[in-house]
Amino acid sequence: MKGKFITFEGCEGSGKSTQLRLLSEYLTARGVDFIMTREPGGSGISEDIRKIILNGKNTEMCDECEALLYAAARIQHLKQTVAPALDCGKLVICDRYVHSSLAYQGYARGLGTEYIEDINKIALEKFNPDLTVFLDISPTDAFKRKHGADKNDRMEQLGIAFHEKVYEGYKRLLPLYPRICPIDCGGTKEQTHLNVIKLLKDKNIIN
Ligand code: TYD
Repeated sequence: MKGKFITFEGCEGSGKSTQLRLLSEYLTARGVDFIMTREPGGSGISEDIRKIILNGKNTEMCDECEALLYAAARIQHLKQTVAPALDCGKLVICDRYVHSSLAYQGYARGLGTEYIEDINKIALEKFNPDLTVFLDISPTDAFKRKHGADKNDRMEQLGIAFHEKVYEGYKRLLPLYPRICPIDCGGTKEQTHLNVIKLLKDKNIIN
């Protein structure tokens, strides 16, 4: 595969969407050949799976079903969207990836790292990102900035204790997955954007 694959991670309200928008504008202005995509989603089938996972009415969904649906959406997205773009030499930027499953389902839900690694074997072995940018802000600080959670989103409704656990899960991944680079995003969105660009340049993802 000729292109580079980078992913963005962070807790709810970490400013990921804003940073991805700013990065997209930056790359477009410089004529970089890239696609921006997301998980769960990024292809027709995966977007359908996304609706099932995030539907606030699906309160009876068990943790294993949740983890398997994320993994199913992921492999379809990888094969249908990510791999063809990488083969064409494009830069692929993905909003969330398997590290979300490790932090949310593996750690916060308690399914364990091994289970998540098993059901995401292809993603971890064949589509290991060149770089994962972790927007590092605690959910408590992030929710203060965001003024609360989305009432229709099943994951956002899980409460602050769950999201603090997700944050702890991410922190535990850092020594295990050296390609995850934390970015402090306690400053303004412009400062964070500059930090993201600097990181991408330092890692030779962009010139
Ligand atoms: P989204 O609205 O895209 O959230 P955000 O803007 O915070 O990225 O919804 C994605 C939700 O799915 C989010 O709560 C994180 C969660 N998620 C997992 O729990 N496991 C996963 O593997 C992925 C990809 C996402």
